[in-house]
Amino acid sequence: MKIIIINGPNLNLLGKREPTIYGDASFEDYFKSLQKKYPNVELTYFQSNIEGELIDKLHEVGFDFDGVILNAAAYTHTSVGIADAVKAIETPVIEVHISNVYNREEFRHHSYISPNASGIIVGMGLKGYNLAVQSFN
Ligand code: DQA
Repeated sequence: MKIIIINGPNLNLLGKREPTIYGDASFEDYFKSLQKKYPNVELTYFQSNIEGELIDKLHEVGFDFDGVILNAAAYTHTSVGIADAVKAIETPVIEVHISNVYNREEFRHHSYISPNASGIIVGMGLKGYNLAVQSFN
């Protein structure tokens, strides 16, 4: 089974960025623990701060991989381009948010991704990525 985690802008700063909201673990360390937990899953990770690179990656994996776990971060709330890419590909996409976007600012309450996501995991911290991998098994 081939699953990719795609993280959007500013998520490269996990561990340093607003730790009261996003925690103090780096994503690289968390990702290593996920790979150990699921030795039979071909798990890969991609992060970009650039909208077009996220769209290119969705196109690249979206007709071949078994699952995409997507945290489009701030682009969740702004990007029709990423939403269209999620709609265009065949691989099911699970939308993940580390924080509970619904108890934060109002502009975070709307997601362009959600209507075409096969599932949504919100507010569970980094554990949300683990739950998403589990859901594909
Ligand atoms: C986020 C929530 C977004 O609103 C925010 O812009 C992020 C991270 C989350 O994982 O909680 O960068 O997607």
